[in-house]
Amino acid sequence: MIRSVVQGCGAYLPARVVTNDELAKKVDTSDEWIRQRTGIRQRHIAAEGEFTSHLALKASERALADAQLKPSDLDLIVLATATPDETFPATATRVQSALGMTRGAAFDVQAVCAGFVYGMSVADSMLKNGLASTALVIGAETFSRILDWNDRGTCVLFGDGAGAVVLKAETGTGTSADRGVLANALHSDGRQHDILYVDGGPSSTRTTGFLRMEGKEVFKHAIVNMAAVVTEVLDRAGLAPTDIDWLVPHQANKRIIDGTGRKLGLSPDQVVVTVDKHANTSAASIPLALETAASDGRIKKGDLVLLEGIGGGLAWGASLVRW
Ligand code: ACO
Repeated sequence: MIRSVVQGCGAYLPARVVTNDELAKKVDTSDEWIRQRTGIRQRHIAAEGEFTSHLALKASERALADAQLKPSDLDLIVLATATPDETFPATATRVQSALGMTRGAAFDVQAVCAGFVYGMSVADSMLKNGLASTALVIGAETFSRILDWNDRGTCVLFGDGAGAVVLKAETGTGTSADRGVLANALHSDGRQHDILYVDGGPSSTRTTGFLRMEGKEVFKHAIVNMAAVVTEVLDRAGLAPTDIDWLVPHQANKRIIDGTGRKLGLSPDQVVVTVDKHANTSAASIPLALETAASDGRIKKGDLVLLEGIGGGLAWGASLVRW
């Protein structure tokens, strides 16, 4: 049985850090409100002229270095983003050419904050089907470009960044002891479109638009859907919550993260939290958190890591990975 085994990971954050206090000078908010409701203390914001592809490229170079592989070893790039450089072509092709990779396929997937688990699932399926052998899965976003900086209900919640993992097809035994992606689960519910969307687009308005969110509604769906999808992905792999070493959730809100950890019966120190430093970086949040916990030595080879996320669509999913 083919397994998509993680060879390395990398991350990149723009240099500029914006604190809650700095935001409170521009909109009617406070550090206390933001921290209490979300756990966010600061976010990184891309510089003028710094695009999603630039962040993605830096994270990818670091992931390749960590994997001790060269761009010429890759034959697939899947880039999850809701903030592409351009409407087309795919931002993944920008990364492909900047890396100097001249073969294989590079394309974007769009599932907003669930984008990274969607990307993992697509790449895993392609590796398993023999369509590729070594894949770069990237989550990269510049959400600062689609925020309405006058809307305090949304502008305080998001940040920019990128993370990437390298997956390589290797032969496993087919048991849950194998390293690699053990199971994925994906869902969407288009009926919930209006609770989280961008009010622009090339076909509808010929504008880029701004992010609009009914936070309370999204919160309710997030709690229910995250609990269901983590159970589903564990069942698929024939594993139990007690087998999990690390929960690496999408970093939108500390309260949602804590709720999912509690439902799984995990201790707080098994849950990787970066929302305080990065805010919600949408598709980039899971690989940024993964890189944080892998590089500081928490996540080790052989550990069972559960990734999960939900975002606009609504779209949500989970991946279970033996590191
Ligand atoms: N500062 C101060 N006050 C604020 C702010 C702010 N930044 N934003 C809103 N408020 C006020 C509101 O106006 C409201 O005031 P009112 O009671 O006088 O009307 C009050 O605070 C409460 O607002 P709520 O929106 O009800 O606050 P809530 O407790 O729901 O927290 C939050 C809002 C943080 C957005 C929360 O609902 C949440 O995290 N939702 C989930 C978001 C999420 O998970 N998104 C994931 C996907 S993102 C993606 O896919 C792109």
